[in-house]
Amino acid sequence: MPETRSTPVTVPAVRAAKRSNGHPPLVMVTAYDAPTARIVDAAGVDLILVGDSVAMVVLGYEDTLQVTVDDMAHHTAAVARTRPSALVVSDLPWMSYHVDAAETVRNAARLIRAGASAVKLEGGAKRLPMVRALLDAEIPVMGHLGLTPQSVHALGGFRVQGKTLDAARVIVDDAIALAEAGVFGIVLECVPDAVARMVTETVPVPTIGIGAGRHCDGQVLVFHDILGWEDRITPKFVRRYAEMQADATAALAQFAADVRDGSFPASPETFHAADGVTEALGLYGSSATASSATVDA
Ligand code: KIV
Repeated sequence: MPETRSTPVTVPAVRAAKRSNGHPPLVMVTAYDAPTARIVDAAGVDLILVGDSVAMVVLGYEDTLQVTVDDMAHHTAAVARTRPSALVVSDLPWMSYHVDAAETVRNAARLIRAGASAVKLEGGAKRLPMVRALLDAEIPVMGHLGLTPQSVHALGGFRVQGKTLDAARVIVDDAIALAEAGVFGIVLECVPDAVARMVTETVPVPTIGIGAGRHCDGQVLVFHDILGWEDRITPKFVRRYAEMQADATAALAQFAADVRDGSFPASPETFHAADGVTEALGLYGSSATASSATVDA
């Protein structure tokens, strides 16, 4: 079992967690509801991301564009109710921070009031006015560069970003701009490891990679990918540590078989009436209630 954490993880603690300062790599995993949050926190991760990936891995959409601030607040609140020690970061969904600064702050405040300690938003220099407005409102912000799934149509699909020198420079410049504005960390998604290394060595805040190689200050993966809850698409950068979909399907098939062949429920899984009641009902012989003493009514 992982060591239990004595104090909750804070934004300043994450901000300081550069590997170049001798800090071990940060671990961030997504969670979207109370049971997944409890599992992730019990595993001892540093950050729980209530990702807008909830759209794809929980709600059945093909991309992340369908989720709203209401959806994100609903899932954030479920995670936060478990009072995890890990820092809860909640994704600002598409179109919640694209119109103006006031609307951005109001939307982010909904996620903070739902229980997040920080919000994450996608994009670089063009998001700086929104980032500054959030920070002015005392809302900690995490950046997200590289493959930004909310830009799926503009990017022409879920593709590795920063493959050319010019594209790599834009990512490095965006990371510098976000760090100078005051973000406390930056997710780097699907970029070549050399680009992630350049960013990591350039900015003073931790980078957290997903499909960005081993040089980042931390790693993040989606809960359902790590545990094999879905096997429709397994991205190259995922390492699976369990086969939950296969195990769950086999377990449920066994339950169905047990119901159909009459072996479920068995006596220990049944509430039995007291001897006299059963006899008065005339349903069973008295031997049928022999195990009733071992089962709570
Ligand atoms: O929504 C999400 O799960 C994310 C991760 C991929 C970083 O943003």
